[in-house]
Amino acid sequence: MPKLIVVNRAGEEQAVDGSAGLSVMEVIRDNGFDELLALCGGCCSCATCHVYVDPAFADILPAVSEDENDLLDSSDVRNETSRLSCQLVLTDAMDGLRITIAPED
Ligand code: FES
Repeated sequence: MPKLIVVNRAGEEQAVDGSAGLSVMEVIRDNGFDELLALCGGCCSCATCHVYVDPAFADILPAVSEDENDLLDSSDVRNETSRLSCQLVLTDAMDGLRITIAPED
């Protein structure tokens, strides 16, 4: 069962249990982080699930799709580690992935 380390907007860290096959957005939301709005429910059309991911895991994350890239481009707080968490489906290899919820746009 992959664990995620989630850092909220106040900078507080919490380890949460995920399940392979769930998206990172679902795991964050289901663990009560209401800062992550995820308004479109994971359809890659809102960008309110924006997170920063630990660069150490960059190689095992799925590639950024064109839609995800376009949405991230609409954010003023995008950086090189930005992802939409609904587009990151958890695998066991992602155990220990550190995710920081991006500031509100
Ligand atoms: S939840 Fe809307 S883009 Fe991820």
